[in-house]
Amino acid sequence: MPTVLITGVNRGLGLEFAKQYRADGWRVLGTVRNRRNAGDDLASLDIELHELELTDFSTISALGHALRDDAVDVLIANAGHLGIRDMPIDNIDLQSWETSFRVNTIAPVALVGALLAPLRRSVQRKAVAISSRRGSIACNDTGGRYMYRSSKAALNAAWRSLAVDHAELIAFVLHPGWVRQTGMGSSLADVGLEESVSGMRGAIDSATAASRGRFLTWDGKELPW
Ligand SMILES: NC(=O)c1ccc[n+]([C@@H]2O[C@H](COP(=O)([O-])OP(=O)(O)OC[C@H]3O[C@@H](n4cnc5c(N)ncnc54)[C@H](OP(=O)(O)O)[C@@H]3O)[C@@H](O)[C@H]2O)c1
Repeated sequence: MPTVLITGVNRGLGLEFAKQYRADGWRVLGTVRNRRNAGDDLASLDIELHELELTDFSTISALGHALRDDAVDVLIANAGHLGIRDMPIDNIDLQSWETSFRVNTIAPVALVGALLAPLRRSVQRKAVAISSRRGSIACNDTGGRYMYRSSKAALNAAWRSLAVDHAELIAFVLHPGWVRQTGMGSSLADVGLEESVSGMRGAIDSATAASRGRFLTWDGKELPW
């Protein structure tokens, strides 16, 4: 069976991705910041856990080293950082904004860099970034969320470059919808957790060379950058 590597599997979308891929018999490699954060739900899944702190790039290199002789068919760069929602621009929290860029933009690209050999060695060679509609400049008509929006827009730009520079991979960006039962969603959100993840898995499964460099929603629609 193919292998998927998912970041941030201890909760939210990452945990649901791990559950669904395992249920389909995939080999699942999951990352958590700290194994002690792995709850009962995760412990009951038969997945290989690795520790990864995305603000500490030495842990990204260590993961690449641990998997250097492995094959990873699908990388899902899922873990994300919301940052401060309502930051007044006359009181910028530089540290939190930097963390957003480290976690949401730089670390996912560094992860692909660290896993180039395992991705190239695989059959599917897919590198997927879980971005957000809030990272779309064209869709931004409500403003605010400077940290989150700018770091996801930068992720989109970087992933597009990745898709152009690494034509040996199928690199594209997904928006999961606004999803219930997740840290970044809300009980008021319009998409269910299982529905979002099964939709994104469908988009990943059906991705071909024509998917390179695209920005798609969980239900397969194209988003403007
Ligand atoms: N939920 C939505 O409605 C929605 C909408 C659009 C986009 N997204 C995107 O979808 C992805 C998953 O969202 P979610 O709602 O499932 O989020 P979530 O429930 O808040 O989970 C976030 C995950 O990211 C991990 N993480 C955060 N900072 C990290 C760091 N520095 N190093 C390593 N891991 C880190 C968290 O680990 P800890 O538990 O250790 O903090 C957790 O596993 C994110 O990229 C998000 O931007 C979500």
